[in-house]
Amino acid sequence: MRTAPVVAAEIVFEDDGTPRSRAYGDVYHPRSGALAQARHVFLADGALAERWRGRERFVVLETGFGLGNNFLATWTAWRDDAAHGRRLHYVSIDESPPTRAALAAIARDPALAPRAAALARRWPPLTCNLHRIAFDDDSVELLLAFGAVSAWLPQLVAAVDAFFLDGFAPARNPAMWEPRIFKAMARLAAPDATVATWSAARAVRDGLASAGFAIERAAGSDGKRDITRARFAPRVAPCTIARRTATRPFASGLATTPSAADVVVVGAGLAGCAVAAALARRGLRALVLERGAEVAAEASGNAAAIFHGIVHREDGRYARFHRAAALAAANEVNDAIERHGVRGSADGLLRLETRLDLAAMASIVAAQGLPSDYVVALDADAASRIAGVRVAAPAWHYPSGGWVDPRALASAWLRGTSGRAELRLRTAVGSLRRVGDRWQVVAGDGAAIAEPDAVVVCDGSSTALLGATAWPVRRQRGQTTVIASSSVGALPRVPIAGNGHVVPPLDGRVWTGTSTAWNDDVVDLRPAEQRRNLERLAHLLGLARAPEVDALSGRVAFRWTSADRLPIAGAVPAAIAAASIAGCEDLACGRLDRSRLVERAPGLFVCAALGSRGVASASLAAGIVAAQVAGAPLPAEADLVEAVDPARFAVRQVRRGAAGARDDANQPPVGPIAGSFGG
Ligand SMILES: Cc1cc2nc3c(=O)[nH]c(=O)nc-3n(C[C@H](O)[C@H](O)[C@H](O)COP(=O)(O)OP(=O)(O)OC[C@H]3O[C@@H](n4cnc5c(N)ncnc54)[C@H](O)[C@@H]3O)c2cc1C
Ligand SMILES: C[S@@+](CC[C@H](N)C(=O)[O-])C[C@H]1O[C@@H](n2cnc3c(N)ncnc32)[C@H](O)[C@@H]1O
Repeated sequence: MRTAPVVAAEIVFEDDGTPRSRAYGDVYHPRSGALAQARHVFLADGALAERWRGRERFVVLETGFGLGNNFLATWTAWRDDAAHGRRLHYVSIDESPPTRAALAAIARDPALAPRAAALARRWPPLTCNLHRIAFDDDSVELLLAFGAVSAWLPQLVAAVDAFFLDGFAPARNPAMWEPRIFKAMARLAAPDATVATWSAARAVRDGLASAGFAIERAAGSDGKRDITRARFAPRVAPCTIARRTATRPFASGLATTPSAADVVVVGAGLAGCAVAAALARRGLRALVLERGAEVAAEASGNAAAIFHGIVHREDGRYARFHRAAALAAANEVNDAIERHGVRGSADGLLRLETRLDLAAMASIVAAQGLPSDYVVALDADAASRIAGVRVAAPAWHYPSGGWVDPRALASAWLRGTSGRAELRLRTAVGSLRRVGDRWQVVAGDGAAIAEPDAVVVCDGSSTALLGATAWPVRRQRGQTTVIASSSVGALPRVPIAGNGHVVPPLDGRVWTGTSTAWNDDVVDLRPAEQRRNLERLAHLLGLARAPEVDALSGRVAFRWTSADRLPIAGAVPAAIAAASIAGCEDLACGRLDRSRLVERAPGLFVCAALGSRGVASASLAAGIVAAQVAGAPLPAEADLVEAVDPARFAVRQVRRGAAGARDDANQPPVGPIAGSFGG
């Protein structure tokens, strides 16, 4: 998916206060009010509520989020319905969303006002991403896709129960009503999916009909003779996501009310705790097994870690993933600070730029239309004012970046599961086994620990349990230096990153580093690296030379990084399980040349290789995995899901082979996947 700048809506008001788009010359809702339209057209006068009752999840997809009135009306109807299902997922796409200020200023019907204020408070930066916002203890999830509907529909992964079509009038806004939009909707339709729109245009009805939706006319209101309703009724069995998930499951086929041990998570570092939290948010219970005596004591065990996005001229998958991940991390960190008293801050971070000058930085920001609440390019003076110390280079300011105590964040994730995660410490998993259609999680002495439906391996690299050749990963040593704040002169108010990083003082001490080395297993602190970390600190703080420090302490830890430096998160390919796990030998391995067609080992997932950005990437990676386990809408676009897919290395290898020998394209290799690094 190509990055497109998101341009905020320009909203003007009619004499009676009805909001109108200047660009489209059309009103956001009829003069009779947004709520009346939402209730009649989209909520079908209560008929939608009858469908969501008793459901584990109900998924709405809206084209045209606009001012959010339909979302607020749906959320309100859900809350007011004592018999509503467990989870409402509301996915909505908009190319020109309002700014936060404009959203907050819109006059609302009193029935919607309290929730409108909550929405405005959580409104994300206008970046071309999928933004997840949860309300009411995660029972209502809003996934906001900012960009064109034609670009986003093919990127969504969800099984949709109800489509709300709410573009401007087809004559003024044809891009919202094209035949290809209706075809893309068909791919996302759950069995019995419905469509509702206020439009009764012939072309809309014909387009829906030719995409497999049976048209049902319904009476209009507000002077309109009729509106359009439709039901998904394709003549031939379609290739929908719902059907693909049923026949080639990402999902583990979990019952709607799983018991405590239905999902086992191996490892309680940032990854495992984030996965347990993300599963709980989707209503699933997890048993978290950790070999150590405490949570987050290995790679995740520093007292302070930084997080922020990435800006890159090409805005490729790496930059896009880390933008989405950093925005998700900021929400998580804020939540952990507010609800669990975790130490940290998402109030800004500076990243020094040494290669580009300010003009080049600003031109990238402008070309990508990146909003100032995501990133700003600053000269050294402006950066110094934010830092509170003199910095010597221009810098990227990430206003929602920051730092956090990762150990406390991991614990908060477990605490926040409201009892849906059970932690078992000092429990090392020796191996996995497939027995019938369940998993057996086995200790080193061969004793079965649990027999879950699904397993998520979060042990750092996952190669110990899934085979050394599962995917290319490398272990990197990192040494962090800790010094007394009094050893350095002025210290920054916000974290500064560049060649290394420094975090504002904590308990009279400063955490700085981090020296890195591949293929180095030495666990003791190296004096030479302590010195190098102090030199890095001097550079970050614009000091003439490294501070003289008498007492140096620090910490050594090891992180796992994949060949393309993106996490490995998602459903494990059947071929990998077949090669390394007892009981999986007979799994059908099928094609390996396209991520979306790769057969998966049922109920086996991984969230690993978070590299040097574990704080930033854990929650998005975990959200992807948990949504796959639960069969819920994925919180990232298909391209990014593919970018972190555990199958990607095998797929690339097969494709490279296919490029050399096209005749063999339909003969994918079976057995272990070669794991050469740098692939
Ligand atoms: C020095 C250093 C500095 C860093 N700084 C930053 C930073 O500033 N910002 C940032 O975003 N990231 C940073 N990182 C990276 C980040 O810390 C990692 O990406 C992250 O901690 C990885 O989390 P994890 O859960 O995958 O791994 P871990 O934290 O290592 O957790 C894996 C857990 O699995 C357990 N386990 C393993 N095998 C088994 C088994 N068989 N059975 C049961 N349990 C098992 C382990 O005991 C461990 O607790 C840094 C990393 C290092 C090393
Ligand atoms: C009628 S308004 C939606 C009103 C909204 N449903 C509500 O409840 O407030 C139509 C919306 O469609 C959006 N839009 C127009 N063309 C689009 C496109 N090609 N892709 C995505 N959104 C588009 C506009 O930005 C506008 O916000």
